[in-house]
Amino acid sequence: MSLRLGFIGCGNMASAIISGIVRAGYAQADEIIASEPTAEARDRAKTTLEVHVTDSNAYVLAQARTIFICVKPQVLDTVLDEIKDAAQDHQLFVSIVAGVPISYYEQRFGISKHIKIARLMPNTPALIGDGMTAVCTNSLVTQGDLQEVLSIVRSFGEAEVVPEHLFDTVTAVSGSSPAYIFMLIEAMADAAVAGGMPRAQAYRFAAQTVRGSAQLVLSSGRHPADLKDMVCSPAGTTIAAVRVLEEKGFRSAVMDAMEACRIRSEELH
Ligand SMILES: NC(=O)c1ccc[n+]([C@@H]2O[C@H](COP(=O)([O-])OP(=O)(O)OC[C@H]3O[C@@H](n4cnc5c(N)ncnc54)[C@H](OP(=O)(O)O)[C@@H]3O)[C@@H](O)[C@H]2O)c1
Repeated sequence: MSLRLGFIGCGNMASAIISGIVRAGYAQADEIIASEPTAEARDRAKTTLEVHVTDSNAYVLAQARTIFICVKPQVLDTVLDEIKDAAQDHQLFVSIVAGVPISYYEQRFGISKHIKIARLMPNTPALIGDGMTAVCTNSLVTQGDLQEVLSIVRSFGEAEVVPEHLFDTVTAVSGSSPAYIFMLIEAMADAAVAGGMPRAQAYRFAAQTVRGSAQLVLSSGRHPADLKDMVCSPAGTTIAAVRVLEEKGFRSAVMDAMEACRIRSEELH
């Protein structure tokens, strides 16, 4: 084994993770190997990420100690069939595959093997180095391994260790939630366009306001309701909007949507 990190599948999320790792200086691109089934995808990974590439998942295992599994759930079984016999106890497998519990990997690797497994739930803002990722592991993962995983994950955003039983909730609050935020930004921009603002400018105003508001929650440590009250002056414009949001069930709609997301996530495993 001569390389530090291996990636099985090098699509959107793997590329974001590799970019973060290299940008943060955690590893050099030439210390990373990635597998992809098509020559076109391998060429893309080689050109854009400058990593070693291969068409063999088994070769990734032969080359690296820490291996990220970054394929879609539909091809996971094929991949596990290819690698399960070659997996060794000292290797660390880090899966980003949504909805697949650690116990599934343990079962597929076989009980006679003692394979270290970490499971991640990242989100798409990882693509720009600003993700939120939940991390959980099986009991074989050492503190040193966990620190390695956290260092890697923090190269493309924030990360926290979360018990696996909360991963369906994580799916609702950070995995899927960029979609709800994009819908909010789109709706805010549409209303601004209706008010006469050019569309491109409306997206900038809406998106920057969402970013700034989120940053204010994170950096001030103040309760979101407190920050909301701060914007609402007596008989003012903001409280008029807040009253309509309450009438339309804004908070209840968000909570119901997240509950539907969590339940759907549970159904998938
Ligand atoms: N995107 C998100 O927001 C998000 C968030 C959290 C978790 N995830 C999880 O991340 C995983 C990857 O998602 P993604 O968006 O990065 O998908 P993606 O862009 O489709 O990447 C998957 C890559 O794996 C390749 N692949 C297919 N079969 C393979 C095989 N047998 N061996 C090696 N590589 C193979 C695919 O090649 P082809 O395209 O040629 O098939 C593709 O390049 C998924 O399991 C998803 O659940 C995604």
